[in-house]
Amino acid sequence: MAQTEVATDLFGQPVPLGPRSFDPDGFLVEPTTVLNTREGDWQKRKKEWESLGIKGELGRKGRLTMTGPAASINYYYAKEKGEAPEPEKSTSAFDPALTETLYRWYVPRGGLILDPFAGGSVRGIVASLTGRHYFGIELRPEQVEENLRQGLEIAGDLKPVWVQGDALDCLPNAPEADFLFSCPPYGDLEQYSDDPRDLSNMTVDSFRDVYREIVRRAADRLRPDRFACFVVGDYRDRKTGNYRNFVSETIAAFRAADLHLYDHAILVVQVASLSMRASRAFRANRKLGKVHQNVLVFIKGDADQATRRINYPEGHLWLAPKQ
Ligand SMILES: C[S@@+](CC[C@H](N)C(=O)[O-])C[C@H]1O[C@@H](n2cnc3c(N)ncnc32)[C@H](O)[C@@H]1O
Repeated sequence: MAQTEVATDLFGQPVPLGPRSFDPDGFLVEPTTVLNTREGDWQKRKKEWESLGIKGELGRKGRLTMTGPAASINYYYAKEKGEAPEPEKSTSAFDPALTETLYRWYVPRGGLILDPFAGGSVRGIVASLTGRHYFGIELRPEQVEENLRQGLEIAGDLKPVWVQGDALDCLPNAPEADFLFSCPPYGDLEQYSDDPRDLSNMTVDSFRDVYREIVRRAADRLRPDRFACFVVGDYRDRKTGNYRNFVSETIAAFRAADLHLYDHAILVVQVASLSMRASRAFRANRKLGKVHQNVLVFIKGDADQATRRINYPEGHLWLAPKQ
């Protein structure tokens, strides 16, 4: 069936059908509001990227800790059984297949991506290998060192750039960008360092203020008629176990910087052997096993202009302005 044919869902909304052929570069993900990383195609693509030697999880001193209600349901399961829960030890590495998808959808070839919380090497290396420039800011020197090492080894001619420092200080001197892209610290869910400028060490109030200011300074560097994307998730307060609404906080921060929420997709993530543990944990505390993140896409200026710039990188300017 051709891609243009549509069916309607229960509510009469059009649902795109047909072969997943919309992407001329050949990465097969349907542009819908659910991005399912569990699908075979997705996992295959992720492995292809990883086979290049990208190791987004390298660069951390030791491993990160997630404890208390912020932790995964392993933690609750141990508690329920009366065992002393081990602090959760895990490290989040960014998904290269998601990165590739978002670059192809929202960034013109040759454009520059600005990332105020760079973390690992993934977003930089994928930028280079898909023909985009990348400028990442990262507070931890050991992470920047590791990223630069991987960048030299793997990336193509458009070498990714990482600078070490506090995003608050570095952003005013960052280059003008065609896309903002980041995965910020989710409050204190993962602690990255003991540097007081590290957002993951801040109180709830300071975090909110500094996060907003970083978003504002990053948005200042974004050229008009361009997209921005932050991948975020809600997380639980350590003491109460209640959710802190980080998704809304991120939307409010971009709104305060005069960008508009334009797309919002749910990223379904893989969690090994979740279902058994989820039901046990749910019985103990009514907490649903969290298997998704939120992909928030914002627009600065005009989305039609931004789209044409991506579709026709050479010739978008002849688009007549809206009446
Ligand atoms: C969500 S994490 C990165 C982990 C992530 N999954 C990734 O993409 O690799 C966010 C990063 O922000 C960095 N960070 C925290 N506060 C910062 C600040 N004020 N300026 C720059 N980077 C900061 C942390 O060191 C951490 O590497």
